[in-house]
Amino acid sequence: MTSQPYSPGLNGVIAAEISVSLLDTDLEMIIVRGYDLIELAQNLNYTDVAYLVIYGVLPTEAQGREFCQSLAEQSEIPEELYQLFEMMPKSTVAMDALRTGISFLAGFEDPELLNDNSREANLKKGVKLLAQVPSLTVNSYRALNNMPFVRPDPSLGYMENFMYMLRGEKPDAVSLDAFDRIHTCYIEHEMPNSTFVARAIASTLADMYGAMVGSVASLKGPLHGGANEAAIEFILAIEKEGGPPRAEAFVMEKLAANATIMGFGHRVYMKKYDPRAKFLMEYIPKLASRIDNGEELMSIYNTVEQVMFREKALYPNTDFPIGLLYYELGIPVPLYTPIFLASRVAGNIAHVVEQHENNSLFRPRVIYNGARNLHPPSSPISPG
Ligand code: SDX
Repeated sequence: MTSQPYSPGLNGVIAAEISVSLLDTDLEMIIVRGYDLIELAQNLNYTDVAYLVIYGVLPTEAQGREFCQSLAEQSEIPEELYQLFEMMPKSTVAMDALRTGISFLAGFEDPELLNDNSREANLKKGVKLLAQVPSLTVNSYRALNNMPFVRPDPSLGYMENFMYMLRGEKPDAVSLDAFDRIHTCYIEHEMPNSTFVARAIASTLADMYGAMVGSVASLKGPLHGGANEAAIEFILAIEKEGGPPRAEAFVMEKLAANATIMGFGHRVYMKKYDPRAKFLMEYIPKLASRIDNGEELMSIYNTVEQVMFREKALYPNTDFPIGLLYYELGIPVPLYTPIFLASRVAGNIAHVVEQHENNSLFRPRVIYNGARNLHPPSSPISPG
């Protein structure tokens, strides 16, 4: 085994042959089902791109309409889910509540459909989950924070309904536009840890729900999806400690202490710009006037970016601008990573479908550095 190449963290290892997406670092492009993700985000709605990611082709107008209708019709979650959210300890982290909610939902699935891993069955379960995930995300958070539930309104569009549940009122056009584009930027990203986990789980022929639950657990980590919350906390910490004039020294002190600055660096892009970050940063000034401290936070953002490039040659990944954009949109910080997950459900559906269609069990080997040749005593040690 030791003669096999070993790459800690599977860095650079090719783990699967896939057709959903590719990070083309030479072209600095995220290819999704043949299209440039940024071009998709510039021109289409999240639901158009979700259809593309899930079914592999863009919808016709009729298919697009039917897809949105199906999402709206299935957007409500079982009553027991609302009760579950109310029973959760108020100290529950929003991402954990979402993870539990998805797991709980599996019990409401027709048992035959739940264990059916055919393309058709997976698409059916996947689209239902995509329809329900906005309500799961928002209403679990609402329960944890003693806020009244806002039930999905099937007369609204998918993203409009998501924002309506978040805010308790219909969003204005500018907010909706920005929220939709951010959601599209997050939709799919080749083989991040959370997608790998979903595929690894699916590779045992476990069901779609199990794969999604694992994916939520993975995405929560601050080295992954949790970075969007950490990024805004970092910017807000600088604001609290003295604002823009303090920003450069603050970052320098963190770097001198060998701290990881969340929202910077990326396993695949490494020293290149994340195309999503480049695209989305243009929205930051557009939304800045919506909050009192918009100009200040923008100035801190720019200083952090400049210092990180000057000192470490690192660019922001998409979580850095999105952290600030969600803040400008008035979204509570604990919801940033759950909303990231909600956008990524479409990508993960496509991956689970593909994994089940062309399956090979994930089961790597190791370099063993533990003991050998030990022998237990001839009789039990503990009372048992
Ligand atoms: C996402 O994979 C995906 O596609 C994920 C994602 C998606 O859409 O699904 O794009 C979403 O998860 C974005 C990433 C969010 N995470 C963060 O922002 C956390 C901060 N970033 C870093 O921890 C780091 O850059 C990672 C975890 C993202 C990538 O880490 P790697 O590839 O394992 O690299 P590394 O941690 O070993 O770093 C290499 C070097 C080190 O320096 P040296 O020891 O070589 O001197 O770069 C330095 C690191 O110290 N470095 C950083 C840094 N990122 C890398 N130093 C300070 N701050 C950072 N953020």
